[in-house]
Amino acid sequence: MAKLQPARGTRDIIGPQARTMRRVVECFLENARLFGFEELATPVFEFAEVYKRPLGEASDIVAKEMYTFEDRGGEALTLRPEFTAGICRAFISGGMQQNVPCRLASHGPVFRYERPQKGRYRQFHQINAEIIGPDDPLVDVDLISLAHKILTDLGLVDRTVFHINSLGDTQSRLAYRESLVDYFEQYRSDLSPDSQQRLQTNPLRILDSKDAGDRKIIDDAPRISDSLTKDAQAFFDQVRHALDKLGIAYLYDERLVRGLDYYNHTAFEFITDQLGAQGTVIGGGRYNGLIEQLGGQPTAAVGWAGGIERLALMLVDEGAARNIIVMPLADNASIQALSTAMILRRAGAPALVDTSGNLKKKMNRANKANARFAILMGESEIAADNITVKDLDTGDQQTISLRDFIESHAFKDFIA
Ligand code: HAM
Repeated sequence: MAKLQPARGTRDIIGPQARTMRRVVECFLENARLFGFEELATPVFEFAEVYKRPLGEASDIVAKEMYTFEDRGGEALTLRPEFTAGICRAFISGGMQQNVPCRLASHGPVFRYERPQKGRYRQFHQINAEIIGPDDPLVDVDLISLAHKILTDLGLVDRTVFHINSLGDTQSRLAYRESLVDYFEQYRSDLSPDSQQRLQTNPLRILDSKDAGDRKIIDDAPRISDSLTKDAQAFFDQVRHALDKLGIAYLYDERLVRGLDYYNHTAFEFITDQLGAQGTVIGGGRYNGLIEQLGGQPTAAVGWAGGIERLALMLVDEGAARNIIVMPLADNASIQALSTAMILRRAGAPALVDTSGNLKKKMNRANKANARFAILMGESEIAADNITVKDLDTGDQQTISLRDFIESHAFKDFIA
């Protein structure tokens, strides 16, 4: 058997990590609701074909990173390496065309066979938002506003820079591809082996190379803006104009190309310099051709995904919720203690019963767990139908009825 450890690039999520990740998801879901999104949960695995073509056979994800396997029925299946293609599959097979525009919010685990490092895992988690239907620059901006508001609510917006570019329409892309190939061909032998390969398969991705030699050549490469058609330029101008009007600051980054093949027009990333090499926390763009490529009717769409681990790494853990610990101290007190805890929970307080050890041990555990109140239930309390409440912040102790405790300011402040 393999060593009893999580597989490379995966981890168990508990405590501070679980709490900060949950905060990201809750903030996402609450804002998705405010923006009129519906929740969609697609399967974690799909037929391999769903991802292969849309993401691009030559993209890193398809070429090197997908977890694809044959199941016992001989089907080639892929653990989702992202949400978008699976959502488009669901859009087509679920007949959602009837309901466009569709605003769809999803979140969950994603799998890529990458070299693990800080902020990069083989199983990670994404929040994901797609708007399917409208081919409208204002919809791009509305979708970007959702990401911007989530970052604002999490207190992260000032720690990221919003980069945006236009990859143009098909005609712009083809023209740009041609001018890039012409340019890089002159330096073919100076390019890194990876980039030489990409010159054949996907020249745009050379712009993404981190190789120092490549970077020098890339600096003088032609820019996509020179190849944009009039329509593509007008689309992008409207996006930028609306961002200006809404006060969303951006950096026009002509080198931004994204790692997946399906994009056209608007492409964007929120990038931080606070996570080392893995600084992109949210990335997305428009992908008008994807649904048709998967066999649906031609349908425009735009979306983004955020890395939950990366966003969570930027947050400070606010600590676990504080509890009330109910302590039965007599043989006949345990059941009463369970029912007391249940009444406290119904009143909105996190409560649990500690049945093991003597009072001293229970108190030590309660203090260590940073509990807020201890409720002592000994023989005299049970006989008089009272509880003794010890305020663990002040040390004050009083014997009262459970109802009076729930009515008290101290309790109300605690659950507020
Ligand atoms: P992506 O840029 O491949 O886009 O991933 C989105 C985000 O997922 C990244 O910005 C990053 O925060 C996080 N991420 C990616 N790989 C890892 C990893 N190995 N470990 C931890 N976090 C990671 C997409 O996935 C597109 N589907 C986005 C999209 C939606 N475009 C249109 N709609």
